[in-house]
Amino acid sequence: MSRPFNFAPGPARLPPEVLEQAAAEMLDYQGSGMSVMEMSHRGKHYTRIQDEAMADFRSLLGVPSDYEVLFMQGGAIAENSIVPLNLSRGGKVDFVVTGSWSKKSAAEATKYCDAKVIASAEQNGHFTHIPAVDTWGSRTDAQYLHLCTNETIHGVEFHALPNTKTDIVADVSSHILSRRMDVSKYACLFGGAQKNVGISGLTFVVVRKDLLGHALLSCPGAFDYQTVAANGSMFNTPPTYAVYIAGLVFKWLKEQGGVAAIEARNIQKSQELYDFIDASHLYAARVSPDCRSRMNVTFDLRDSALNDRFVEGGASAGLLAFRGHKSAGGMRASIYNAMPIEGVRALIAYMREFERLA
Ligand SMILES: Cc1ncc(COP(=O)(O)O)c(C=O)c1O
Repeated sequence: MSRPFNFAPGPARLPPEVLEQAAAEMLDYQGSGMSVMEMSHRGKHYTRIQDEAMADFRSLLGVPSDYEVLFMQGGAIAENSIVPLNLSRGGKVDFVVTGSWSKKSAAEATKYCDAKVIASAEQNGHFTHIPAVDTWGSRTDAQYLHLCTNETIHGVEFHALPNTKTDIVADVSSHILSRRMDVSKYACLFGGAQKNVGISGLTFVVVRKDLLGHALLSCPGAFDYQTVAANGSMFNTPPTYAVYIAGLVFKWLKEQGGVAAIEARNIQKSQELYDFIDASHLYAARVSPDCRSRMNVTFDLRDSALNDRFVEGGASAGLLAFRGHKSAGGMRASIYNAMPIEGVRALIAYMREFERLA
C-alpha cells in the first residue's frame, strides 16, 4: 500500500506495521472473539497488553526502579494542572519559557502555586533560542523547575538539560523516545502519546517515587499520582485502545533497535533537512542551530507570498500537513520516529524543485 508522507505535528504518522497489525486484530484480538476496544480492562487479555506496554516503555526509556510509570488521560494540557496539584505543595515553581507550550503551562500553574517565569525566549511572539542559563532568575526554594524540552510549535529543543540543583519537571510530549534521556536527571517527565508513542487519549507520566503522596487536597483522586500508582494505572478505566497501540509502537521500536538506533536515524533525518534549508536561497530555518528540534523542523519561505502554493504543491506530491501552527506561521515539518528517511528526502526533493521553479 502506497501512502503519502504525513508531516503533521500530532496526531501524527504511525509506523505502517503498527496500523497493519491493529487492522489484522481489529475484529478478533488473538482468538478472544473481541476487539481490544470491546474487552474488559480487568480481563486477562487487556491486563497483559497493559503490563507489556508498561514494561516495554520502561525498558526502552531506561526508567530506574525508584520511578513510577503512570498511564493517565487528559493529555499534556491536563498535566499542566495535574503536575502542580501533585508536586508543587502550593509553593514556588519556576518556569523557563521557550515556546507556546511552556508559556501555557506557566499560566495554568498560577491557579495552584506561586508560578514564576524566570526566563523567557519570547521576542515579538517568536521563540528561536533558549535563554542562557546564567540569566535565569532561579529561586533556590522552588519545588521544581518546569521545562518543555521540545517545543512542538516553534521547534526549539533542549539538547542537554541545564545543570541545576532544582528538580526538573519536563513536558517531553514531542520528543519522548526520539533520543536517549537520562531519566534520573528528571523529577518527573510527562506527555501525550500522539506523536512518538501512539494515539491521543493516553498520557504517560514518569515520576520519582519519593515525590508521591503530597498532592494538594483539591487534587481529584483520578489525578493523584499516588492513587494512580497504587492502582496500577487502573484507578479509573484506562484508555485501553490507546494503550494497546502504544504497546504495538513499543514493539516496533524495539525491532528498530531501540532508542539509540532511532536517535541516530533522527539525527540523520533532521541534519539532511536543516543542511538543505541552510544552503538554499528560498528557505530559512527559524531556530538557532544549537537548539533546533530534531522532531519539528520550522522554517520560512523568504517570500511568504509563495506559502499557499508551496503547501498545495506538497499535498499534490503526497507530502501532507507541513504548514506551521497558526500562531507561528511559516512551515513546520514534523519528522517523528515513524517518518522514514525516504519521507524526508522526498520533502527535500520537492523543496529543491519548488525553489528551482520559483
Ligand atoms: C509539547 C506539547 N505539550 C502539550 C501539548 C498538548 O497536548 P494535548 O493536546 O494532548 O493535551 C502538545 C500538543 O501538541 C505538545 O506538543
